[in-house]
Amino acid sequence: MKRTAVNLGCGLKALDGWINVDGSVNAWFANHSWIATLLRPLIGNGWRVWPKGIVRMKLERGLPFATNSIDLIYTSHFIEHLTRHEARTLLKDALRVLKPGGTIRIVVPDLEGAARLYLKSLDSGDAKAAEEFLERTSLYSDSRASFTNLRAWKSFWFDYQRHFWMYDSDSMKHCLSEIGFENVCDCDGQKSEKIADIEQVERAEAVGSDGRGLAVEAQKPQ
Ligand SMILES: C[S@@+](CC[C@H](N)C(=O)[O-])C[C@H]1O[C@@H](n2cnc3c(N)ncnc32)[C@H](O)[C@@H]1O
Repeated sequence: MKRTAVNLGCGLKALDGWINVDGSVNAWFANHSWIATLLRPLIGNGWRVWPKGIVRMKLERGLPFATNSIDLIYTSHFIEHLTRHEARTLLKDALRVLKPGGTIRIVVPDLEGAARLYLKSLDSGDAKAAEEFLERTSLYSDSRASFTNLRAWKSFWFDYQRHFWMYDSDSMKHCLSEIGFENVCDCDGQKSEKIADIEQVERAEAVGSDGRGLAVEAQKPQ
């Protein structure tokens, strides 16, 4: 039977055979290229690199899938772009839509790895340690989005670059367990017992102990 697999916050990694979902306006423009071409002086060319066929949806509003209908949910470097509360709401909804025994795999930037690097740089007397930590974790904003600051507004809607919360392995696993997932475990990058085509969907550079990212997997109870 054909697997129903969803990639949440897929970005440019929209693969055939997956339901690819992303909230970026660029995903919408890629599906409506004639409008994007007309608006090019306003919106630039960023949308051109985006694949067509992405379902555009703001995921903090929950998932548009029926209960017990999805075999696999994959999400990489996305849920840190949600507030803590939004992420919990989304993960609860993920538990709802997964079939019993279905798998979720979450990759997020690794707060612990980033913090360890920060302390190491600080201890070695690097005056840029704090700056590098904040840039690595995207826990900052250079400007406020407002109607009088169009550049920041555009960046807010188009890029979604800002992180609203971050996780280490323990907090991610704890969150999943609390919500009701089972078999919650750490995974190596591009390795999975449950996802045969993991190397296709997971970028090699998405997971790494230098703060780049950690991967956890869990299942919905049978
Ligand atoms: C850092 S990118 C990761 C893309 C891809 N998953 C990867 O690992 O390369 C984060 C993605 O999440 C999307 N995103 C951020 N906030 C979102 C939201 N509230 N709803 C839907 N998509 C969102 C962005 O548009 C962006 O494509």
